[in-house]
Amino acid sequence: QAQNERESLYIALGFARDFFVKNLQSPEGKSIGLSYFKERGFTPAIIEKFDLGYALDGWDNLLKEAKSAGFQEEILLKSGLILQKEGDASRVYDRFRGRVIFPIHNIGGKPIGFGARILTKDKNQPKYINSPETAVYHKSDVLYGMYQAKKAIRDKDNCYLVEGYTDVVSLHLSGIENVVASSGTSLTDGQIKLIKRFTDQVTVLYDGDSAGIKASLRGIDLLLEGGLNVKAVVFPDGEDPDSYSRKVGTQAFQDYLQENSRDFIGFKIGLFQVEFAKNPIRKAEVIREVIQSIGKIPDPIIRSVYAKEASTLLEVEEDVIHTELNKSLIKTQ
Ligand code: UTP
Ligand code: MN
Ligand code: MN
Ligand code: MN
Ligand code: MN
Repeated sequence: QAQNERESLYIALGFARDFFVKNLQSPEGKSIGLSYFKERGFTPAIIEKFDLGYALDGWDNLLKEAKSAGFQEEILLKSGLILQKEGDASRVYDRFRGRVIFPIHNIGGKPIGFGARILTKDKNQPKYINSPETAVYHKSDVLYGMYQAKKAIRDKDNCYLVEGYTDVVSLHLSGIENVVASSGTSLTDGQIKLIKRFTDQVTVLYDGDSAGIKASLRGIDLLLEGGLNVKAVVFPDGEDPDSYSRKVGTQAFQDYLQENSRDFIGFKIGLFQVEFAKNPIRKAEVIREVIQSIGKIPDPIIRSVYAKEASTLLEVEEDVIHTELNKSLIKTQ
């Protein structure tokens, strides 16, 4: 029964994907959706690679089309494609309207949900509307772009982790295919397990704003705890991988990643470096920050390698690091 329902959801979601893809080539889709993608530098090939689409502006375009193709309202509701009107559950309408569509694929390439970006500057509307959790879309186990990235992640033995849909698409345009997005939410154990199926090396490329840096710090500790080898790159203030790659171009962007990849110790030192040398109290904070992250690493040998590196970079005795490390290890047990 549950299996049948999941199959029906896949079919409905596939139907919706096809509908959105087709509507991107309609007159409305071309003049609004396709021109938006073009402005962002998205090519026809990349639009096809990610099944990008357009949801027509109207309350029931998908609903009508799906019903006349024989889909039951119940399945459309369970797939998250339509919603019940508040206060009148007998009235239903399309969730995605007048937005460009980023299908979210499972690892086998089937669409399991959608992210839909607004095209106006209307601040009263959310920038993205996303599918809800469903029987086939467990957000905590999904990373956007994994289907398109998995082979490259294995080949390169590294996974770039970005925040947004457009960062994934832009990196592909820059020739970087080993990239997935956490889609603006904090990383989960399920997502980390998914990455570990393909590599044990992650490079975090979050937005260069305070939210992005905070999310990097949290993400790095979770990745370390998961036994992954973690690097991070900081972007100039206000830039994300998409905006920065378009600003400087493909080659300069790739060079920037090469030159600015730091392990988590270098990343943290870089963040807190302001007045670092002069101020012992600030320096102590950074040391504690770094030790705290080292303490997350499950493998004691790797832990001691990083303790040594931290001792050199932070200019503190290794003994001090080990003493602090033991304290924090005891605390977490
Ligand atoms: P950002 O605000 O950084 O958007 O959110 P972005 O990806 O750079 O998009 P553009 O370049 O402005 O088009 C990062 C991610 O957080 C999720 C989306 O997955 C987005 O890609 N998000 C953001 C939402 O789900 N809803 C929102 O309203 C905003
Ligand atoms: Mn779930
Ligand atoms: Mn952001
Ligand atoms: Mn962003
Ligand atoms: Mn962006």
